[in-house]
Amino acid sequence: MTRIMEARAMHKSYGQVKVLEDVSFDLEEGEAHVVIGPNGAGKTTLFRCLSGETRINSGSIMLNGQDVTGLAGWQRVQRGIGRSFQVARIFQDMSAFENLIVAIETRERSEKGLWASFGHIAPRRAVMDEAERLVHELGLEGTLDDPAGTLSHGDKKRLELAMSLALRPKVLMLDEPTAGMSPSDRSEAVRLISDVRARYGLTLLLTEHDMEVVFGLATRLTVLHHGAIIASGEPHKVRADARVREVYLGQH
Ligand SMILES: Nc1ncnc2c1ncn2[C@@H]1O[C@H](COP(=O)(O)OP(=O)(O)O)[C@@H](O)[C@H]1O
Ligand SMILES: [Mg+2]
Repeated sequence: MTRIMEARAMHKSYGQVKVLEDVSFDLEEGEAHVVIGPNGAGKTTLFRCLSGETRINSGSIMLNGQDVTGLAGWQRVQRGIGRSFQVARIFQDMSAFENLIVAIETRERSEKGLWASFGHIAPRRAVMDEAERLVHELGLEGTLDDPAGTLSHGDKKRLELAMSLALRPKVLMLDEPTAGMSPSDRSEAVRLISDVRARYGLTLLLTEHDMEVVFGLATRLTVLHHGAIIASGEPHKVRADARVREVYLGQH
């Protein structure tokens, strides 16, 4: 197996608050690695550190054998990390389709440099075609022209996923992709994520609260508790781990 990401001895504090303490974390190509842990355990912070949205205080992060510890988020995107767009980053007044066009053009600009955007006004045919393909693959047909801000929660999540895929990542990172969904939207989202994973040959890294989603998707499970990893491995083994049962699963 090829190791895509290798993070070692990461420490992250916000002011006096230690959020991650000596966290080492691997991501192997093709796996669906799910991180769980109680609220406030540090899952979102771990994601932000890995994607480069925030810097670690000490430790190292390698991506495909290259040290990316000092690189910014957009530079890591260029190296194949696709972070799920947060709802806030969707342009609320633009239509779902226009948001997709922006995401695709963002990728093209980062691939080709700023000159790619110079002098072009209307979206080119290829960009339109790609946006349409994503719309069909993610079932966004009914909402194409609606302002993104008016979409249902489930459709917003679909749009976020489409925008993440537009970056053509090797690793797709999704932070609680089914949060706030109804049970039926949730199982549809799981189907969609599994589908997309198979179709694009993606490596997945996600956090999730819902245990059905966790065990439906995970090929590896890591448990974070008070900013430290207390177990990591095959989901059924982690589920049986005494410490995990005690500090985490036992609470639910
Ligand atoms: N930007 C920030 N500034 C200060 N404290 C933060 C910040 N982000 C997260 N924290 C703190 O770090 C801890 C872990 O938060 P988070 O990573 O969001 O946990 P989780 O995603 O597991 O719920 C919490 O105590 C939270 O208050
Ligand atoms: Mg979180």
